[in-house]
This record gives sequence, C-alpha cells and structure tokens, in this order.
Amino acid sequence: MESFTFYSPTYFVFGKESEGQTGSMVSRFGGSRVLIHYGGGSVVRSGLLDRVKASLKAEGIGFVELGGVKPNPRSGLVYEGIELCKKENVDFILAVGGGSTIDSSKAIAAGVLYDGDFWDYYCGKVIEKALPIGTILTIAAAGSEGSPDSVITREDDMMKRGASGDAIRPKFSILNPALTQTLPAFQSACGITDIMAHLYERYLTNSTEVEVTDRLIEALLLTMKHEGPRVIEDPNNYDARANIMWAGMMAHNNSCGVGRSQDWNSHNIEHELSALYDVAHGAGLAVTMPAVFRYVMNHNVMRFAQVAVRVWGCSMDFEHPEVTALEGIRRLADFLASIGMPKNFEELGAKEADIPQLVENLCCGNGREGKITGFVTLDKDDCTKIYQMMI
Ligand code: NZQ
Ligand code: ZN
Repeated sequence: MESFTFYSPTYFVFGKESEGQTGSMVSRFGGSRVLIHYGGGSVVRSGLLDRVKASLKAEGIGFVELGGVKPNPRSGLVYEGIELCKKENVDFILAVGGGSTIDSSKAIAAGVLYDGDFWDYYCGKVIEKALPIGTILTIAAAGSEGSPDSVITREDDMMKRGASGDAIRPKFSILNPALTQTLPAFQSACGITDIMAHLYERYLTNSTEVEVTDRLIEALLLTMKHEGPRVIEDPNNYDARANIMWAGMMAHNNSCGVGRSQDWNSHNIEHELSALYDVAHGAGLAVTMPAVFRYVMNHNVMRFAQVAVRVWGCSMDFEHPEVTALEGIRRLADFLASIGMPKNFEELGAKEADIPQLVENLCCGNGREGKITGFVTLDKDDCTKIYQMMI
C-alpha cells in the first residue's frame, strides 16, 4: 500500500425526509444568502424545490434561484451563475439535483472567488478557494456529493474536462433515497453503471498489497450487482435505493481508492462520447468499460481474474487465467445490458466516422500530449482501437 492523506469532511444527513434539515444545515455551515441551483425541472415536478425553500425560509435564510442545468453541464450557465452570485452577494451554493447540478454548483462556487476565467481550473489549476456548497442529491450516480471533483463541458468546442480541489467538497450532503424513486429506469441504470465504473477505475491499480481497498471495492460491486436489478424491477424499493445511494457515495469519496494508483482511462474515453453526442455518462461507460478492459487485460490478467472470481462468481482457470478474466468482463457486460444499458456504438448513437475526432480530442486537449495515462498508458493508436472495439 502506498502512503496517502485522506480528507473527506462532508457532513452527511441520510434518510427519509432528510431534506427538511436543509435550512439548519445551511445555517450550521455559515450560509445566510443562498443560490439554489437545479436542473431541468425534476425537482420542481416532485415538489422537492418547494420543500427546500420552505426549510430555508423557516431558518430565515434568503435565496435566489438558478435552474436549467443540463446533463453534461455547460460552461454558459456557470458564467451566468457566477455573475448572479456576485450581484446578489450570495455566500452559499445549494445544489438540488444530480451530479450535473452539483458539478455546475462547484464550478460557480469556485468561479465567484476567482479573478480569472473559471475554466482555468478545468485545465489543471487546483481549486483552493470556493464558496461553501451543500447538496441535496436526487440520483445515486456520480458521487459528486462526497467528491472534490467537478466535470464541465465548455460550449465553444464541447471540451469536457474535470477540476478538483478540497475547497469544492460539499460541506454537507442530504441523501434521502426516497427522492430517487422518481427516476426513470434508464437514469437509474446509468447511475448504477457509473457507480460500478468508479469502483473498477480504482480496482485497476498498479499498486500491490492493497487487500483492504480491494475487498471494500469488491463488497460494493457485489452490493451493486444485488441491488441494481431490484430497483430496475421495482423503482419504489426504498431499501435497495438506500443501499445504492450509500454505495454511490462510498464508491467515489475515495475511501476505496487510498494508497493505490487508479485508472480513469474508461472515464476519459467516455467523456469524449458524452461531449460529442451528449449521451448520458453512465450509458457511455457501459459501452466503454468492456472494450477498455478487454484491451488492457493482459497488462495484469490476474487482477481481472480476481474480480471475475470474487465478484462475478467465475471459477478460476489456473492454467489459462485469461479465460477467467475474459469471462468476468463478459459477465459485467451482460449485467449492464440486463439493466438496460447500450452495448455498442450504434445503440449509444455514436458513429465510426467520428473516431479520429474522438481520439484527437481525447489525447490532445488541455495539456495531454498524444496519450492518456492510467492502469496502462494509451496512445492515439490504442485509443483508436478501443473505440473501434465498441462498434
Ligand atoms: O435535470 P433534471 O430535470 O433534474 O433531470 C435529471 C437529468 O435529466 C434526471 N434526474 C435526476 N434526479 C432525478 C431525475 N429525474 C427524476 N427523478 C429524480 N429524482 O436525471 C438526469 C441525469 O441527471 P445528472 O445530474 O446529469 O446525472 P448524474 O448524477 O449521473 O451526473 C452526470 C454528470 O456527472 C459527471 C458526469 O460526467 C456527468 O456530467 N461526473 C461527475 C463526477 C464528480 N463530480 O465527481 C464523477 C463522475 O465520474 C462523473 O464524470
Ligand atoms: Zn463517473
């Protein structure tokens, strides 16, 4: 295991009707004038936004609102949010929604306290200052409720990039699993896939002797394998929703990723798909992961064989571990298809003719010099072959 620091100070409030504590949480973390940021309307339709406002009013906290965050959130609304916060003297950002809304909130929170263009942070500058952020999560997926990360798409050139820094870790996150019961099955499945991807991206490591985090990841993958189909079958299954919601947080606040190198090549390869085609991040990952894993498998076939045996119930072929490894990848792909995820470029709406552009954006944007690094370093030729495997 490698040396590490771990700092994850988010205060979580978990359970039924927990959004009723919004006002007291904002007060606790020093907010007096809030920007409520939300997406395309699900929180309006569900009545959540009204409950959140009532909770703020009961605490005597003033607020302004900015809705309209799109999945794969865009820079345009971030600039708008920054201006609004400055004009209205906002001192706290409240994200009500999913990963896209939370990430847009994080970008605004950082941008308000930065003299330059907030996009600098999405070109590698670490975020060291931001307004405090609270979240009320409505979809278990991105893990942004407990992460120091934000992913935004710049509209000029549809470049999708991430920024990071402890300053944008939410001060509090309210997790009421019942709020996720209104999700369409497709969005639930996208969330399940993303959570599993966050676990695999950490599982694929070049560090050795990492038993504790290996076992944590396996436990969470087993949980997703068990609970995922239960929420697809019955969207109102509160207990399955609850287990998935906490697994989603655990998968990405890095408690499973400390002391080990991590991959993130599947995420980087997927981000180009969601940037170009505006596909849901989880759906893109469902097509990306099996292709990446088959391509890089021989780098450490025993790692893939281990997850195949421990999570996917494969029997170990000691003479031919690659057979076990491949079977594990096949079972993952079948699982994702069984919950309704796309299997290939066509089902995703991606085009073979765009592969050169995908590879160029992937390997050359923002400081990348013709390759991406992770579990395995992949150059343009590798990335081209991986996209071709998705056809
Ligand atoms: O916009 P509304 O109307 O709210 O609808 C959303 C949206 O259409 C809908 N939805 C959310 N909760 C709902 C609901 N519909 C009905 N009932 C509910 N309770 O679901 C759709 C997707 O929402 P979105 O916020 O986009 O989903 P998700 O949480 O998957 O976020 C995806 C974004 O997060 C980024 C992705 O790249 C993508 O841009 N990621 C962020 C990470 C981070 N900050 O740490 C890590 C991840 O790997 C990921 O890259
Ligand atoms: Zn993700």
